[in-house]
Amino acid sequence: MKFQSVPRHVAIIMDGNGRWANKRNLPRIAGHRAGVENIRTLVSSAAEIGIECLTVFAFSSENWRRPPLEVRLLMDLFIMALEQEAERLHANKVRLRIIGNRTEFPAKLQEAIAAAETLTRSNGGLTLVIAANYGGHWDLTQAARTLAEQVRAGNLRVDEISSELVQQHLSASDLPPPDLFIRSGGEQRISNFLLWQLAYTEFYFTDCLWPDFDRLEFERALTSYAQRQRRFGMTGEQVAHGVETVAPPQG
Ligand code: IPE
Ligand code: IPE
Ligand code: MG
Repeated sequence: MKFQSVPRHVAIIMDGNGRWANKRNLPRIAGHRAGVENIRTLVSSAAEIGIECLTVFAFSSENWRRPPLEVRLLMDLFIMALEQEAERLHANKVRLRIIGNRTEFPAKLQEAIAAAETLTRSNGGLTLVIAANYGGHWDLTQAARTLAEQVRAGNLRVDEISSELVQQHLSASDLPPPDLFIRSGGEQRISNFLLWQLAYTEFYFTDCLWPDFDRLEFERALTSYAQRQRRFGMTGEQVAHGVETVAPPQG
């Protein structure tokens, strides 16, 4: 399938693993396993379609509130997936990055993250960003702290704090903001995902549960995206008549 416009960066909330498992009378973790499997399919579809960057929400800063057993099994699954998939991702030239507060993870997981990032660091293919123990509030808070430290040290004046500078201190600030946001599982909310970065992103919600979100579902989302007119505050006519810069304005 050919698309008129392909998003450079797609961000996904992979929701619905638990309900997928419940429907099959399986434990929730079976849904998470199927969900991880599905990321593999998605990564190869995204690379084929020409998407440059894929960010997936794997564990939110609020997911610690789940039953301790589910949290522990999720950590184990994450370690296993990183160890098993790193080589394959590397062979496919994927650059892997993890965003979120990794310092709260078990040491073994932190090591697996560091190893996978180092292995794939220089790859020039798709960038796969995994948001793990990530929260938009955390992201903005850590940026605010870094800037405050710079002011306190005398290296930055308060009036030098611009939206560009805040942006530069957020996670994965070197990547373009997401063009398309997808949430599976039927809920229509952001759940503390990339709050700042989604300012001008196009949203797509589907009832499809994450383990069922296949290539066809992905293409539906991309078709919807391709039909939209992104205006960034301008009029439809301005955009249609080809204003040179259609980048979001910087405040
Ligand atoms: C998303 O699936 C995966 C994680 C949050 C780790 P859920 O586990 O939230 O699935 P549902 O929403 O209960 O179906
Ligand atoms: C969001 O899903 C986080 C991930 C997919 C990792 P949740 O299932 O945790 O979201 P809420 O709590 O229902 O909003
Ligand atoms: Mg959920």
